[in-house]
Amino acid sequence: MTNTPVLLEISNLHKSYHAPNKDHNWLPNFFSTSHSNRIKAINGLNLSIAVGETLCVVGESGCGKSTLASLVMGLEQPDQGYISYQGNIINGLNHTHRQEYHKRMQMVFQDPYTALNPRLTVLHVLVEPLLYHQPQMKRQDAIDQAMAQLLAVGIDESLAQRFPHQLSGGQRQRINIARALMVCPEFIVADEPLSALDVSIQAQILNLLAQLQHQQQLTYLIFSHNLAVVEHMADRVAVMYEGQICEIASRQKIFNQPLHPYTQALLAASPQIYKNPSNYQKLVGDVPNRIPTQQGCSLQDRCPKAFETCRHQNPKAKEIEPNHWLACHLITTTRMNSE
Ligand SMILES: Nc1ncnc2c1ncn2[C@@H]1O[C@H](COP(=O)(O)OP(=O)(O)O)[C@@H](O)[C@H]1O
Ligand SMILES: [Mg+2]
Repeated sequence: MTNTPVLLEISNLHKSYHAPNKDHNWLPNFFSTSHSNRIKAINGLNLSIAVGETLCVVGESGCGKSTLASLVMGLEQPDQGYISYQGNIINGLNHTHRQEYHKRMQMVFQDPYTALNPRLTVLHVLVEPLLYHQPQMKRQDAIDQAMAQLLAVGIDESLAQRFPHQLSGGQRQRINIARALMVCPEFIVADEPLSALDVSIQAQILNLLAQLQHQQQLTYLIFSHNLAVVEHMADRVAVMYEGQICEIASRQKIFNQPLHPYTQALLAASPQIYKNPSNYQKLVGDVPNRIPTQQGCSLQDRCPKAFETCRHQNPKAKEIEPNHWLACHLITTTRMNSE
């Protein structure tokens, strides 16, 4: 990372859920106390985000992206580890203390339809968070701000009295973005913000997000399984696998000189993005079921390059060149031996 100040820092974060009990699926989950029966959705994750940057977290479905987004937003609490915002630890804060951060950080959800209350008009959706955070504000002032925000996200003010079902998917996502921006946040967390939209609309929303970031000096943390989105938006890319970050680097590095076998495999599986997919080996097998039964690297069974050490030790992330972090025994061992 550059010398820009850190906005958000995540350290050794863990979050697990009860796995459905296959043998006794009639038992409620709280009877399941065994640790081996827990899905490790986030498994010792570290990440930091600099002021003003766009960090994209990319990974296959089920790798823990939405869980991480919920933890960052305080919608869920971690089992272990911390999340700090401008140097202050924000996980575990009570409702009153968390309020302050709710104004500064806002979320854009994946499905623009379910994220909007179907009974509220567009205007109501936008005015509501403003009056919640600033109860002393006059209603007419809130309405004026909402109308200005509608224009900022490219929605005609004639749509202000419409309900969500009367809008297109793209319009609904613009309203979601407008709602997030009503309280003038610094930091936007977006979980798959384009995946529910038609491809033709995705580019428009991408452009809108870029334009708003520029105008309002926003910091973005964007989760996506789609490398095309990441390639368009990211300053830096964090590649996520099994609740951990396996590689972080600038967008250029990740797309041109990826080092982790998993990053390489993701690119190999996206020939529309990466023009020489045959340079890299694809992964074997399926995404594992995430109930930890073995030691070592979580990719070991799928990695074409796994060797003995990978079976015993979980690799720690190392900065192998400036601003390029990697958690892989193969690369770190080879580099250290050649130095
Ligand atoms: N509330 C929950 N209860 C049980 N398991 C969950 C819950 N939320 C997520 N998981 C599990 O955690 C893992 C990560 O899920 P998620 O964060 O939704 O991944 P992604 O967003 O990358 O698809 C998955 O195995 C998922 O089934
Ligand atoms: Mg998700």
